[in-house]
Amino acid sequence: MASSMAVACYIIVLGISVVGLKGAEAQRAFFVFGDSIVDNGNNNFLATEARADSPPYGIDYPTRKPTGRFSNGYHIPDFISQALGAESTLPYLDPELKGEKLLVGANFASAGVGILNDSGIEFVNIIRTYKQLQYWEEYQQRVNALIGPEQTKTLINEALVLINLGSNDFVNNYYLVPHSPRSRQYNLPDFVKFIISEYKKVLRRLYELGARRVLVAGIGALGCVPGVLITRSTNGECSAEVQRVPTLFNPQLVQIIKELNSEIGSHVFIAVETQQMQMDFIINPQRYGFITSKTACCGEGRFNGIQLCTVTSNLCPNRDLYAFWDAFHPSERACRLIVQQMTSGTQEYMYPMNLSTILALDSKKN
Ligand SMILES: *[C@@H]1O[C@H](CO)[C@@H](O)[C@H](O)[C@H]1NC(C)=O
Ligand SMILES: *[C@@H]1O[C@H](CO)[C@@H](O)[C@H](O)[C@H]1NC(C)=O
Repeated sequence: MASSMAVACYIIVLGISVVGLKGAEAQRAFFVFGDSIVDNGNNNFLATEARADSPPYGIDYPTRKPTGRFSNGYHIPDFISQALGAESTLPYLDPELKGEKLLVGANFASAGVGILNDSGIEFVNIIRTYKQLQYWEEYQQRVNALIGPEQTKTLINEALVLINLGSNDFVNNYYLVPHSPRSRQYNLPDFVKFIISEYKKVLRRLYELGARRVLVAGIGALGCVPGVLITRSTNGECSAEVQRVPTLFNPQLVQIIKELNSEIGSHVFIAVETQQMQMDFIINPQRYGFITSKTACCGEGRFNGIQLCTVTSNLCPNRDLYAFWDAFHPSERACRLIVQQMTSGTQEYMYPMNLSTILALDSKKN
């Protein structure tokens, strides 16, 4: 592990120094789309219940203050920015995102959203996926005004993109209430087929809007998270029913990624096997330095699995020892480990290639 990380760091450093030769503003931009796993504060600016802007969220962030990230500190996009040698992107709705800051990229993600518009409907004002894409178009116009159309196109084409969607189509839709409208409309395999076909349209749209390197995160080990264990597990075992979700969804996601890449004739889309990464912690937490992967650090009830993490919740003293920060979201340390796997993992984790390979390849092209 240590030596493969050293190799990864070497490649990243090399990649950056090559890119650096191109000139001042040539640093690779980063764009993020999706849900609460990757939202870094857009929902702070919206009237919605889906928010992480009060303590103890952010307790381990450098400022020790909540930021809107569903984490005790940094989350997955922050560690990817670090791997790019870049500062973290700002949320798109943040008024600070203007001028030169725009060139770093932007985060359009919004906690609660899914692939479908009716997912997370109970959160009312969230930035649904189609709207996140519209905001990206608006962003591109703003950058156009700043650096001109040619440089904007280069910035977009050379950027790294991350998208994380799907869990809320189950948690906050299909399984939200017994006999939910979607569960009456579709059995689980047919529902998965339906959302996968909708997801393919979203990915195609990202390509049309200029994305050329897109990390597409699959659904994590949804049946094993504290928020699901609380109602569906007797002794902490994963819910076999809910585990069908990633088991059905992820291989079909890889399938559409292969189809899109072969249509385009290039490895634009990269599958991130989040479920595989999380299962490693779940099967053997101690191996990764966690004392548990069943109980959340912050929450209430069995496994601290009640959705809310607030000032009155149980809070563990050492967040690094927990794979889950709250009922649904990985701890900062779990996020760091996940991004290490993204950077240097084998094809089992990153298909068809990992981030260090991407960075090395793309720096050669330029
Ligand atoms: C969501 O709503 C928008 C705007 O009405 C529509 O264009 C889009 O196709 C819808 N997406 C899905 C997956 O239904
Ligand atoms: C992933 O990254 C490491 C370097 O960190 C590299 O050795 C490896 O071959 C890469 N690709 C795959 C498919 O494992």
